[in-house]
Amino acid sequence: MTAMVKHFLNLDVISKNDLRSIINTAKDLKNGTASVDKPLAGKALAMIFEKPSTRTRVSFEVGMKQLGGDVVILNSSESQIGRGETIADTAQVLSRYVDCIMMRTYGHEKISEMAKFSTVPVINGLTNSSHPCQLLADVMTFEEHAGPIRGKTIAWSGDGNNMASSWIHAAVKFDFNLRIACPKEQAPHSELFEWANKNNGSVKLFNEPAEAVKNADCVVTDTWTSMGNDEADPHNHLAPFRVDKALMDHASVNAVFMHCLPAHRGEEVTSDVIDGPQSIVWDEAENRLHTQKAILLWCLT
Ligand code: CP
Ligand code: NVA
Repeated sequence: MTAMVKHFLNLDVISKNDLRSIINTAKDLKNGTASVDKPLAGKALAMIFEKPSTRTRVSFEVGMKQLGGDVVILNSSESQIGRGETIADTAQVLSRYVDCIMMRTYGHEKISEMAKFSTVPVINGLTNSSHPCQLLADVMTFEEHAGPIRGKTIAWSGDGNNMASSWIHAAVKFDFNLRIACPKEQAPHSELFEWANKNNGSVKLFNEPAEAVKNADCVVTDTWTSMGNDEADPHNHLAPFRVDKALMDHASVNAVFMHCLPAHRGEEVTSDVIDGPQSIVWDEAENRLHTQKAILLWCLT
């Protein structure tokens, strides 16, 4: 039904070339060299939020408008989705009004269902298992500060959540080494490591954060309590994985610190790290805008 539609559902199902070209477009948009003047004039994006958002919502809305397009926002509690209208029906209806659908939801199967029944591109704006839009901003930001990511070493210390899973996809697609330190109960799904291995990725799991971080070019973490995950760290296993100055000192002297935000200072990261000289989190947040625009252009032109 939707064979020719370019959905942005997950990094593992998009080619390396396409992902790299989206980042290149984002860089051109940021430095003003892209030859685009309202290329999405007359187009509309619907954004469905079943979870809260600040960055994703604002960057998509501002980005779409900067490209000449328009946006409609549907919070699930204020739309018929919240009253049980099916994803399949919603997809077919929205496809008659808008040119693209961005959805932030719980299970990945909901995004897949939306894409199955939509005749316009569907963008994954975060699910319980992935956050692909964020990773494009993250790779772009790392490269602005530290040069090509290919062959570099990124260390994750914290919960093995949706962001950790998308970092695994990114490691394979952008050819960097990824070390993940997390409690074994909270590790990303073993299928992701198997997928990375099968695709010649360099992704390793560690129990000791200091080992994972040793000489790394980047240290990254995320909240210990993801949206919709009320059972986060019930046994208080995450404390040793907090990114503090002592942990950062194991990394390369030029290492950067990244976090998709929102952050919880004193939990997954200390204030001296996130507000310190190695932190590039504000550029990372800004780059959501440029990569969002590049994703919209990839889907719609
Ligand atoms: N990083 C990120 O996706 O932030 P929001 O939840 O604010 O959209
Ligand atoms: N892991 C976090 C990311 C927020 C952008 C969450 O899912 O809540």
